[in-house]
Amino acid sequence: MSAGQRPGPTAHPGHVAIIMDGNGRWAQMRGLPRQEGHRRGLEALRSAVRNAGELGVRILTLYSFSTENWRRPATEVSFLLGLLKRFVEKDLSELHAAGVRVRIIGGRDDLTPDIRRLVEHAETVTRDNTRMTLVIAFNYGARDEIVRATRKLARDAAAGRIDAATIDEATLASRLDTADLPDPELVIRTSGETRISNFLLWQAAYAEFVFTPVLWPDFNRAAFEEALAEYGRRERRFGALSEPIDRAAGAA
Ligand code: FPP
Repeated sequence: MSAGQRPGPTAHPGHVAIIMDGNGRWAQMRGLPRQEGHRRGLEALRSAVRNAGELGVRILTLYSFSTENWRRPATEVSFLLGLLKRFVEKDLSELHAAGVRVRIIGGRDDLTPDIRRLVEHAETVTRDNTRMTLVIAFNYGARDEIVRATRKLARDAAAGRIDAATIDEATLASRLDTADLPDPELVIRTSGETRISNFLLWQAAYAEFVFTPVLWPDFNRAAFEEALAEYGRRERRFGALSEPIDRAAGAA
């Protein structure tokens, strides 16, 4: 349990992370090409950002392309890369005007220079916005993120910048892509799959998980509200005992 996390009644989640799944099945069920599913998925992404803002979610992290997704057919990969480009190019000014800070997490080295420039541009333009933070996980894999963080630590130790014996959870967390972000309280996965699929393995250590059968292109306001309501029914204890027993034992 990190500082500030206390057992007790659940509040509204400040940081929600979503594994957006089911675009392909959504398209298949309608006899449409998979690409149409992704296109509709981008529409659902846009409305999820709007809904998050309206529902008081301050940070929304969306898993849009995993390190494993490179194994998909080349046409699908380039379509998804194109969607990211289109999203940043078309939506950046609107997001900026709405006070949204955009962050991209994931490995940058595998990205083409034009996408890397676009991503850096989006982050630079919006970095002082405070209304809401939108985190796009792109070319993201939690194991890859932890490996990259470990390399940074090893380099710092080798250069004498840190003492290896003093490395603790906070030191490692400060080298992750999410260094400046609080952990998500809620992780949602759509499409009925119940796996974490290499998403925020470190950060979701104490998160609540909500799995919904809704396919991502159909994830609308009502589905978002239902996931938040499900979260509200959970009791988060962070490994401690529930409140009445704590009190009986004389805990603060
Ligand atoms: C999972 O559906 C979805 C993805 C791998 C990509 C998510 C992409 C979007 C929501 C579009 C917006 C994209 C960007 C890059 C901003 P799936 O294809 O695995 O669905 P299936 O499991 O039904 O086949």
